[in-house]
Amino acid sequence: MTKTIIFLRIMIEYENLQRVNKPYFKEFNEVFNQVLESGWFVLGHNVEEFEKEFAGYLDVKYCAGVASGLDALTISLMILDLPANSEIIVPSNTYIATILSILLSGHKPVLVEPVISTYNINPELIESAITSKTKVIMVVHLYGKSCDMDPIMDICKRYSLFLVEDCAQAHGAIYKGRKAGSFGDMAAFSFYPTKNLGCLGDGGALVTNNADYLRKAKMLRNYGSEKKYYNEYQGLNSRLDEIQAAFLRIKLKHLDEIVAYKNSLAEVYLKGISSNFILPAIDPNFYNSYHIFNIRHNERDKLKQYLLDNGIKTEIHYPLAPNKQNALKFMNSFSFPLSEEIHRTTLSLPVSTFHTVDDVTEVIKILNGFKNY
Ligand SMILES: Cc1ncc(COP(=O)(O)O)c(C=O)c1O
Repeated sequence: MTKTIIFLRIMIEYENLQRVNKPYFKEFNEVFNQVLESGWFVLGHNVEEFEKEFAGYLDVKYCAGVASGLDALTISLMILDLPANSEIIVPSNTYIATILSILLSGHKPVLVEPVISTYNINPELIESAITSKTKVIMVVHLYGKSCDMDPIMDICKRYSLFLVEDCAQAHGAIYKGRKAGSFGDMAAFSFYPTKNLGCLGDGGALVTNNADYLRKAKMLRNYGSEKKYYNEYQGLNSRLDEIQAAFLRIKLKHLDEIVAYKNSLAEVYLKGISSNFILPAIDPNFYNSYHIFNIRHNERDKLKQYLLDNGIKTEIHYPLAPNKQNALKFMNSFSFPLSEEIHRTTLSLPVSTFHTVDDVTEVIKILNGFKNY
């Protein structure tokens, strides 16, 4: 009788939200029961407490929980009550949500190229994009690395522009000692489950130091109403659920550990990955929260397939630049070569809280073998 030997290949997953949340299951179950018993499900005690705790974490005065990161961005622009078709400067390589928030609030996105090594908006290119219609710079701290805020804040000051931060990927990121989200007139966060601070569904928050903005944010998330059935503004239904706020309060206590752990995995990648790949830029002024650990390579698609064939799942953030999306046909003819180059070459490696140093070491070993493939 012949023996058949089967080799089972262990896959290294890119993400697994069951494993990410497993350490909190006991606490989640406790608060789930509390919320269930309370009979209060939308905008209650947990939302209020989370708002205080998250504002405290960021060292800003106020926070308003909303239903998603996209809503937080859209509401921030609604609050400013700008003339229709105002120009909003935004990086050309952001996730489409940033651009959609500008369109949804009736304004014009003006795309500015990133710095190729940091993937964040290039401050040196911003001034030439400013016109008399420009009202806001909407920065995006992409992949978990803060933008270079000093020159950007200087431009905002000199041109009297509002600054809104898209922090959907930057929970726990720090620039020169200050948390991402504490620089702008307002900042928007997403708590989508894959984020470093993710809930078990959709959620978001708008943070600010301005009490008037906070008041308006709280109205706009609730049909433009402060007093039940009396509506001051044409608002949205964008309220944060009690259960999500309760989950977020548990995870917020661990956010710094989560980010530190991801940094320790990133450190292993940075030391081990060969010079055949372009790695994230390192600078002591920036504490990267590594929502995503990306590398770049000319033969990205071939590399992705090679890693998969060797048991490693990866993702692409993002395969198609915003200006090439069908949803944004009016900008399909525009050219943003750096952004398009990033979209063509970027690859995100596994860097989740359930990954071990052994997983990362295995990824590095296989990755570095790509040249011989
Ligand atoms: C940069 C950026 N902005 C905004 C958003 C929108 O957040 P949400 O999905 O919670 O609406 C995302 C979502 O991933 C994002 O990556």
